[in-house]
Amino acid sequence: MRVRIIGSAAGGGFPQWNCNCPVCAGAREGRATPRTQSSIVVRSGEDPWYLVNASPDLLGQLAELPTDRSSGMRSNPIAGVVLTDGEIDHTAGLLLLRESSAPLRVYSTARVRDALTSDYPLLTMLERYCGVDWRPLEPGASTPLEGTTLSVETFPTGGDAPLYMGDAPGPSAIGLTVRDSAGDGTLVYVPAIEELGETVSARLAEGDVVLADGTFFRHDDLVALGLGERDSWAMGHAPLTGEGGTLEALAALDAEVALVHINNTNPILLEDSAERSVAEDAGLVISEDGMEFEL
Ligand code: MLT
Ligand code: MN
Ligand code: ZN
Repeated sequence: MRVRIIGSAAGGGFPQWNCNCPVCAGAREGRATPRTQSSIVVRSGEDPWYLVNASPDLLGQLAELPTDRSSGMRSNPIAGVVLTDGEIDHTAGLLLLRESSAPLRVYSTARVRDALTSDYPLLTMLERYCGVDWRPLEPGASTPLEGTTLSVETFPTGGDAPLYMGDAPGPSAIGLTVRDSAGDGTLVYVPAIEELGETVSARLAEGDVVLADGTFFRHDDLVALGLGERDSWAMGHAPLTGEGGTLEALAALDAEVALVHINNTNPILLEDSAERSVAEDAGLVISEDGMEFEL
């Protein structure tokens, strides 16, 4: 199995268009590498890629993917999309796939489908364009990804419903365990971890490669900068450090661990920061767009 991080930043990307925080300012001064919004692709051997989360930066991300264009006037670089939540940064890219010549295959929980056919009706809209071939991700089940030897299992990772749901009940995030019947490696992908409870910890321990929530360094990153009132937990993300932080547990895993979904305010993005040294000295990889892992 091969996994490629095609977008390593959280919502807004890095630097974020309207942000002058020290980290975004640092990127504009060349002290950090720009990054696009959160997404990965995964494949087995030469089988088609599956996209996991569809970011608003999807078109540029797909342009970088090697694609066999010998099969006629249209070729699709991906066999389908798997969604871990209904957040805008993980779903807005679905609309950018509307030129698909076949119905778009989308795997998600029923809760995410409900959100994407009600308050944020991307799937309803796509029905009028390419059509949607929706497939359920059931808790506790192993779901084969059609056209490949890959399968995914889901587990709850907590977190708030998307803001656009208002007070209505909405989906919270899941993590994915990806296995390949043609190989031995296990990929665990958790772009949102609200809390490292027993379930999440047990799942992380199964991974040979773990791509984990690196959104915030401290719980009050945004609040301290005066950029928001909600702290990391209110946004569904445990911080890396401080009380309830995930860094030590991630570092202790017997796996290759890379941080993904890194918010533009997170000082680990600055190559010369003390915070980056803390994460790197703990053995964690600070992911960048285009980074690949073979399992
Ligand atoms: C999240 O990761 O918590 C969301 O994408 C935040 C947002 O609404 O932008
Ligand atoms: Mn997000
Ligand atoms: Zn910023």
